[in-house]
Amino acid sequence: MTDRLRIALQKKGRLADDSFALLKKCGLRFAIRGGGLLARVKNMPIDLLLVRDDDIPSFVANDAADIGIVGENVLVEEQLTSQDELNANITMRLGFSRCKLSLAAADTGKVQSVTDLNGTRIATTYPGVLGQYLRDNNIKAKLVEMKGAVELAPSIGIAESICDLVSSGATLEANGLTAFKTILESEAVLIQSGRELSAAKAALLDKLMRRIDGVIKSAE
Ligand code: PRP
Ligand code: ZN
Ligand code: MG
Repeated sequence: MTDRLRIALQKKGRLADDSFALLKKCGLRFAIRGGGLLARVKNMPIDLLLVRDDDIPSFVANDAADIGIVGENVLVEEQLTSQDELNANITMRLGFSRCKLSLAAADTGKVQSVTDLNGTRIATTYPGVLGQYLRDNNIKAKLVEMKGAVELAPSIGIAESICDLVSSGATLEANGLTAFKTILESEAVLIQSGRELSAAKAALLDKLMRRIDGVIKSAE
């Protein structure tokens, strides 16, 4: 790898917008153009690797990037579902992109609380986190794994409830669903593998983290 610090970021979405804004406040100068996988920071030896958020933990674990910014929800899900132990851990909490992973159902349906879940179907894109919650609470329910649009599952009749991210709550409301249990609280986190960085990269990361800290503190 080069001596430029490589940061894996979500290419598009709410986490991406927040991540770009944070890095700009830290003084990094870069332009994101549609479709590019790599964006070069003009005033520092840093490259931004623009990918799907779900890929960020494994890219960091496998040395495709030195660090990453990702939702804690995605990190935990990847830790729980990866085949081998995932070499990616939280270095710093970033305090933005806060959301909850919650169970939700229609007000009129047969599932109104956690105690109703036994023997029902739950649609989710988080089989790892949900599976662990169900095991820990001795609940026997069937997971319906989806890649997206989980909020549609109850109305199309493939599940009695869903387990999905809730931020503003607008998506649940638009689909006539109400959250009845939060199983994970999440925020954006900076992640890193256990591998040692070169002295130059370590010094740069240190400087970046001090700036991030300053930006977070000044926002409080
Ligand atoms: C998440 C989640 C909901 C929505 C909730 O999707 O899956 O659809 O956000 O946010 P709200 O409470 O503010 O309405 P996201 O936008 O991350 O996209 P994805 O489902 O494609 O991952
Ligand atoms: Zn995603
Ligand atoms: Mg969604």
